[in-house]
Amino acid sequence: MKKPRIQGRIRLRGDKSLSHRLLMFAALAEGQSDIHNLSGGEDVATTLRVLQQLGVLTEERDDELLITGGGPSAFANSHEQMYCGNSGTTLRLMLGILAGSKVSCELSGDNSLNRRPVQRVITPLKQMGADLQTTDNNDRPPVIVHGKPLHGITYDSPVASAQVKSAVLLAALFAEGETIYRESSQSRDHTERFLAFQGVNIQAKVNSITIRPPVHLQPFVYDVPGDISTATYFIVAATLARDSQLVIENVLVNQTRMGAIDILKKMGANIIVENVRAYRNELVGDIVVTSSELHGVDATDLDSVRFIDEVPILSVAAAFAEGPTTFANLGELRVKESDRLQGTADMLRCYGCDTQIEADTLTIVAGARTRLRPPDHRGDHRLAMAIEIIELLLSGSLHGEYQECFAISAPEFYHTLQAIVA
Ligand code: S3P
Repeated sequence: MKKPRIQGRIRLRGDKSLSHRLLMFAALAEGQSDIHNLSGGEDVATTLRVLQQLGVLTEERDDELLITGGGPSAFANSHEQMYCGNSGTTLRLMLGILAGSKVSCELSGDNSLNRRPVQRVITPLKQMGADLQTTDNNDRPPVIVHGKPLHGITYDSPVASAQVKSAVLLAALFAEGETIYRESSQSRDHTERFLAFQGVNIQAKVNSITIRPPVHLQPFVYDVPGDISTATYFIVAATLARDSQLVIENVLVNQTRMGAIDILKKMGANIIVENVRAYRNELVGDIVVTSSELHGVDATDLDSVRFIDEVPILSVAAAFAEGPTTFANLGELRVKESDRLQGTADMLRCYGCDTQIEADTLTIVAGARTRLRPPDHRGDHRLAMAIEIIELLLSGSLHGEYQECFAISAPEFYHTLQAIVA
């Protein structure tokens, strides 16, 4: 094993979850918003295309996007199919927006998205009066929407999902009467935070949100902080590389997204979050990482909703740690862009790492040594990036085979990595 060395100071493109939401809020506001450092990923480009199909005007200038919204009543009724590609966030959040609009359309995705559950969003929206139906009357897209006036509801979500929560909150903005949304564990809270920043009548407690229309969203200027999920790949690489120091500037450090950092610290990683500052009701900071030896941890008592997207790269960290690591409550990973629970275990086994899945618990028993057979990224960007980091740590050099796949969330991933590997 020829350990690489990582040195540098980097900035990442804007956080994907925030970027989707900002585009949608800009479309729902009346007037021109100005968004800097939007995520460069294909998923966010998909949201932009769907909004353009609805008649929203956009203009790109360097790292800036000008977007002119007219509110939901200005959406053009194109009757076209709205293609959401690989992006669950686009499809599920847009259902919340379109359910209460005057638009009729069909939303579908690629083969991966058309296999992912959608009733979790349809059920609460129907309770609000929405006319939504999947084309095959099952739990999968495509979904046909006939926009209708909605009314508020009180909803206890059976699943801790920010996509479900955000779809309901977006629908609630223009519904008649108040909506109360409750979830058993707090999922990422960017939607609530942005609405509070806009002065909307919203009360957001840890597991319960109350929103009272009417709502008039104002156009805004926003400089999107770097993506914390993408940052985790660089943090794990720098931790496990030799004599390394990496600074990742201006990253979103919202507490609902920091589960992976907490786990890595528990494993012995040397991570400092400094210069923490408030920005538009979110938290932003600079992350400083230096090399360290990791030990396995029992993470079964930690809430998986805070690190669900990071399980592939946390598992890579576990594969290079001393002793076993266990993550529990990973059922939601089965319905991500791929079956990410199986995909993560299979990926590690290709490197000789003993991993076990029992129900929704994943245990990584022993270390990665060498590539025994080619791993399968299953077309999933987070698995592809995890493989790139394992390859780098084992061989000391970059691999770069799956760049097309990285582009779903972070097209800058590969060249940024190239710039810091010494
Ligand atoms: C997201 C929510 C999470 C996450 C996804 C992005 C969001 O999905 O896995 O990558 O931006 O709201 P769920 O809400 O389905 O858990």
